[in-house]
Amino acid sequence: MAKMWKGRFTKSATQSANEFNASIQFDQRFYAQDIQGSTAHAQMLAKQGILTQEEADLITETLAQIKEDIEAGKVEFTIEGEDIHMNIETVLTERIGDTGKKLHTARSRNDQVAVDFRLYMREEIDIISSLLEKLGDTLYDIAEKNQETIMPGYTHLQRAQPVTLAHYMLAYYQMFSRDVSRLADCRARMNALPLGSGALAGTTYNTDRQFLAEKLGFDRVCPNSIDAVSDRDFALEFLSCASIIMMHLSRFCEELILWNSTEFGFIEMDDAFSTGSSIMPQKKNPDMAELIRGKTGRVYGDMLSLYTLMKSLPLAYNKDMQEDKPPVFDAVDTLKASIGIFTEMVSTITFNKDTMRAAVKNGFMNATDAADYLVRKGIPFRDCHEIIGHIVLYCIQNSTAIEDIPLEKLKEFSDKFDEDIYENIDPESCIRAKKSEGSTSFESVKAQLEAIKKSK
Ligand code: ARG
Repeated sequence: MAKMWKGRFTKSATQSANEFNASIQFDQRFYAQDIQGSTAHAQMLAKQGILTQEEADLITETLAQIKEDIEAGKVEFTIEGEDIHMNIETVLTERIGDTGKKLHTARSRNDQVAVDFRLYMREEIDIISSLLEKLGDTLYDIAEKNQETIMPGYTHLQRAQPVTLAHYMLAYYQMFSRDVSRLADCRARMNALPLGSGALAGTTYNTDRQFLAEKLGFDRVCPNSIDAVSDRDFALEFLSCASIIMMHLSRFCEELILWNSTEFGFIEMDDAFSTGSSIMPQKKNPDMAELIRGKTGRVYGDMLSLYTLMKSLPLAYNKDMQEDKPPVFDAVDTLKASIGIFTEMVSTITFNKDTMRAAVKNGFMNATDAADYLVRKGIPFRDCHEIIGHIVLYCIQNSTAIEDIPLEKLKEFSDKFDEDIYENIDPESCIRAKKSEGSTSFESVKAQLEAIKKSK
């Protein structure tokens, strides 16, 4: 098939050069956005008197038909057609002849691909945001049902202070809600129209970019045509958001893998999201969680690949930029699949509340509260810290816990200890006693749940 740009060439490309040059294998994903952009462009050209209304309408109708045919699998894309833009234009011209050839007036593939890409990103961001909202709802439900479920909270992966499972779940809720707002920021910044910038310098036609922006749902037009065709910040920003989301999922997965182990025993993953071993009959492995953790590295790779691609590219368009799409597509697919599976997986987990509660017993998780008790009796905090430190050492040497030491013994460490120490250091009291906003206290977690509900 002859090339659209064949005019200044004396020889056609070799088969291998054609194959190497083509992007249709992956950018056919843009077919709907390409048709959407071309339709708006044709209508704009008619409004400005550059095409007749009849020509624009014929192009519009034919493009709609081509879209249907693509979806029905009736259009065969070719390597010779190079990319989605020229493949669709070729089919259009095959169907309506010279009128089809007029569509590319006042446009370049450089602004065409830029607009397709932004349209595509915008749609995917909306889908990913709604997946994250669904995950947030799932975490909210678990939190709501587990306001009384007590578990160890950790620092350095060492038992630190008792918290509620609800508090823990809401911590992740906050991360994913920041992710949604980060995506919204990214979407708002990318929602500017590059179309109408031509190859880089603009066009000699009296086009109406404001009309195009309105038709295609952009908030504004890109103000500089050179920037419009060479900017891929929007994709980099998306990949950065995607990496942060995957990092959040990966941290959560890591915790679930630990909690699901016999060593922790805090949860049991549903059989539907676990797999067996081909050799060890007893095994039930948390493969989905491990895969999400693993795929996080893959999305980081996608992000780095585009950062590396863009580094040092002179303005404006360079063919290197054709390689911008595969990492974005891979990140989009991986992200959507990971959030989806994660949401299903987390909603089917069984929490072993008794095991969680029993784990709070060991590890001196009430040591800080015991120190706070002495503060309330008038001892400066640093001294209290030291007194309780001595008690903990005594417990370790005698295999006991603070709450199991008789009062007479406690008094040897400080005469400020009274009978009420015991009710002050049971896990419920430790939790209830927290006063600060955002804390793990039952009351504070309820307030956090209510604030979330209100913000919806
Ligand atoms: N397939 C190309 C890409 O994705 C479209 C833009 C090509 N423009 C050009 N001047 N070669 O980057």
